[in-house]
Amino acid sequence: MSRPRIWVSQPLFDDLLAPLREHADVVTTADVAEHSPAQIATALRDVDGALVTLNERIDGTAIAQAQHLRAVANVGVGYNNLDVAALAAVGVAATNTPDVLTETTADFAWALLLATARRVTEAERWLRSGAWTQWSFDRLLGADVHGATLGILGMGRIGQAIARRAAGFDMRVVYHNRSRVPDAVEAACRARWVPFQDLLAEADHLVLVLPYSASSHHVIDAAALAAMKPTATLVNLARGGIVDDSALAEALAAGRIAGAGLDVFEGEPVVHERLLACDNVVLTPHIASASHATRRAMVALAVANLAAALGLGPRAGDPPNLVPGSALPRLPSP
Ligand code: GLV
Repeated sequence: MSRPRIWVSQPLFDDLLAPLREHADVVTTADVAEHSPAQIATALRDVDGALVTLNERIDGTAIAQAQHLRAVANVGVGYNNLDVAALAAVGVAATNTPDVLTETTADFAWALLLATARRVTEAERWLRSGAWTQWSFDRLLGADVHGATLGILGMGRIGQAIARRAAGFDMRVVYHNRSRVPDAVEAACRARWVPFQDLLAEADHLVLVLPYSASSHHVIDAAALAAMKPTATLVNLARGGIVDDSALAEALAAGRIAGAGLDVFEGEPVVHERLLACDNVVLTPHIASASHATRRAMVALAVANLAAALGLGPRAGDPPNLVPGSALPRLPSP
């Protein structure tokens, strides 16, 4: 049997690809690339597996001619860039990288929350502008984090890790999730389930960590923003599209909420121009999992998933991180 072929869609940590190279021919991408749908379809046409990132949309059209494709390993926990049903329909397995990024992402939620509540980036911009000529008592006042109510929308692994950290700030934690998490998890997180409307009304700082899907599209829209406290802050590190960015820009400009910390955007890397114009928003370029160790761990896990799915070397077997709804990989074509 000939060696399997693998496409790696973006530059990743090359040394971590060694387990794939040992058993397969690996085509890498030298520079960060924005692949068009046609380029993705071409790249997938003759390969058995692919290592992709959230930049690449892999759907039925992308794989229509991919007769040999058996597995797509996403380097990321969110996998809304994969049409899992379309892949499953033709026996292509889909995997993601949960767990390895949970704690790093939770750390970053707090970085955004604190920066937003205490106006850190706005203060730095002001200082760098040369406007600081005298210390003043009432300049750049923000909201307290300690003792406040933390709201979490989406109580999966990352939501729970964020909640656990809230104890250090002596916060009250409320969350909303489609289903309540077990009592023991609620106790460990010191968190209480509340209906969505109560979450909006009670949170001083609201963090979004739910997966993006048709049902979470614009869950934070103008009406949801209007239901929040005018002193509240909003943090989104899940996916663009969960928040209606245009409604958020309007609410921020009108002072309907106090501030927002955003790591993800609708249509990123393009950021809504009205958000760029707001002072009371902290903007970061989708870096919540971007620590050295975690980004390497994500690639290593995606490599292990792909090796298992393609039956390469000692890693052959069921991929550990098949996403819900994924098929097992079809047999290699002769
Ligand atoms: C990053 O956004 C991820 O889903 O891992």
